[in-house]
Amino acid sequence: MPVLGVAELLRSSGMSTICQRVFGPYKKRSRGQRNSRSSSRRYKGLYIGCGNGRNYLPLGAAGLDLLGLDVSAAALEQLAERAPERRGQLIHGDLSALPDRHRFALVIAIQVFQHGDRAKAHSHIRSAQERLAPGGLFCVRVNAVGTDVAPRHEITERHRDGGFTVLYLKGPKQGLPIHFFSAGELNGLFAGGYEPVLPLRLHETYRTLPDTGQWSQWEAIWRSKAESGTWHCPRRPGARRVRR
Ligand SMILES: C[S@@+](CC[C@H](N)C(=O)[O-])C[C@H]1O[C@@H](n2cnc3c(N)ncnc32)[C@H](O)[C@@H]1O
Repeated sequence: MPVLGVAELLRSSGMSTICQRVFGPYKKRSRGQRNSRSSSRRYKGLYIGCGNGRNYLPLGAAGLDLLGLDVSAAALEQLAERAPERRGQLIHGDLSALPDRHRFALVIAIQVFQHGDRAKAHSHIRSAQERLAPGGLFCVRVNAVGTDVAPRHEITERHRDGGFTVLYLKGPKQGLPIHFFSAGELNGLFAGGYEPVLPLRLHETYRTLPDTGQWSQWEAIWRSKAESGTWHCPRRPGARRVRR
């Protein structure tokens, strides 16, 4: 079942107005700029870890023009089969697959920053923040402390702010480190340079029997406080598009 939290947040909270304000400058390009071969297409948003489209497609249907990025070629291929018209907007790789200067007015990351230990998770968020244009919106859904972690696992690190990392010993994530964020930890990563548009809120998913307990996730949207103004979204010469 799609996890539409961020999409709902985008729709239900006056975000369309905010998005229009953020996206406004795109519409002001002259016809010459739009037609120029050297002028790149300007993607309105970046979806990091778009997977097979479970949320990418509903977000697109809600009106967002998103570049989809994922390290899984198989997931991207499934997505491209479901939405062939988006094939040219899907990129195989992590953030390093994008040119250094490429910035987006909207960055969306649903259940992706938890992959890895604390250092890796934080570094991933920092790298993603660098991809946000001044005044842009950063939308996150990520594992939260308070989850009844299952299946069998061991806790490999626990920070005084409450965040912890587990190594799964069973199940589909066996052998993988997965991080669980505390509220203070996540808010700390956005302190200073961002203002909450939708402050951190907890979303709990209750497991169905025979499994028990719940999975908690944080959802939030931040806006970069940096001065908005002219910013550049250049061509992506090295990017690996998903091709048939
Ligand atoms: C739990 S799935 C969530 C997929 C999608 N966001 C959704 O809600 O349906 C995590 C996805 O992130 C991708 N992923 C993991 N690490 C990544 C990274 N560093 N850069 C891009 N994608 C990544 C995985 O391949 C996977 O498709």
